[in-house]
Amino acid sequence: MTEEFSLSISDTSGIISPGLVLFREIMESNLDEMTRQAGDVNRLRPHCKTHKMPEVIKILLGRGITKHKCATFAEAEMLAECGVKDICLAYNLVGPNVDRAIQFRRAYPDVTFIVTADHAVPLQQLSEAAVAAGEDIEVLIDLDTGQHRTGIEYGGGAVELYQLMGDLPGIIPGGIHLYDGQNHQTDLQERTDAVHECWQQANALKSDVEALGLTVPRVVAGGTGSFPIYASLGDPVVEVSPGTNIFFDSNYGRMFPDLKYIPAMRILSRVISCPSNGRVTFDLGYKACASDPPAGSRVVIPEISDADAVLQNEEHLVVKTDGHAGFTPGDEILAIPAHVCPTSALHKSVYVIENGEVVDQWEITARDRKIRI
Ligand SMILES: Cc1ncc(COP(=O)(O)O)c(C=O)c1O
Repeated sequence: MTEEFSLSISDTSGIISPGLVLFREIMESNLDEMTRQAGDVNRLRPHCKTHKMPEVIKILLGRGITKHKCATFAEAEMLAECGVKDICLAYNLVGPNVDRAIQFRRAYPDVTFIVTADHAVPLQQLSEAAVAAGEDIEVLIDLDTGQHRTGIEYGGGAVELYQLMGDLPGIIPGGIHLYDGQNHQTDLQERTDAVHECWQQANALKSDVEALGLTVPRVVAGGTGSFPIYASLGDPVVEVSPGTNIFFDSNYGRMFPDLKYIPAMRILSRVISCPSNGRVTFDLGYKACASDPPAGSRVVIPEISDADAVLQNEEHLVVKTDGHAGFTPGDEILAIPAHVCPTSALHKSVYVIENGEVVDQWEITARDRKIRI
């Protein structure tokens, strides 16, 4: 599919490397595909952690996507400043974040602000803070459907916790949140079966608490690999929350061959040295690309099919290739990050490419942990 889009940039002389370049046409095509898979923009609640950019939020709003998800207060603030009126901060609040939630409610009173919880203690703290401030806060129960990262299990007290949400003053039960990052099965049928199992747990919790007279206005579920399956359930309470698909990356490309997304964000890097031993060295250290994938597989370099990344330091990537003699310092590549979300957080801005030209630079505002709140 990449062949449909040109990756050439007519003039790269102003691009400081290592620099993030965003191919706007590819991003728009990924957004078309996301909307197609969701079936309805009203079912979408995309996660902004992948891009963290106001300009991208404005594009999503322009496409009629009004519900948004985030993981930090900086992201929530960025969303609110862009005019988003429905924000879910899917991160359990502890410590100063309890008060930040109150501050956020006060700063943006016309925004529907929803947070998550999976334990009675922070929930009680949030209730006390909300009551003291004269505010109400909507909370989603964070359901652990098998990732075992956060959340409470269906059979492990989820019904009781949801009931507590209904009882506590200042807390409005807002529904269920589930992120199934464990559903990375490459085989689509296996992934579909696993997603259906997660959905059954959410549905069982929903039925149980509804039988107690509580409401479940929404179930926020899924990431890039699973959201099309949740969307195809056709249940009106479902809101799907993919993040990575907007830019996509080489890890997800390998993991999810059924998906039609294309890596839209690349790292422009230049050769800085051609040392001995069949090596070429790029200015692409791990301060420019996410280093959570293992060393040796943090980027894919389409221009060098036999690239073997033998060493990466803070500002250097050393690659072995049979074609080493063909490289000269200053030569450029467009590397695909293996994990794009933490990669974008390492850069202050991206160069935006349209029709092969650098047309703009967009700030990655929410890479900071704090803006004002
Ligand atoms: C809570 C939560 N929701 C949604 C997403 C988006 O998932 P993906 O990156 O697979 O699109 C993530 C990703 O880490 C997440 O942690």
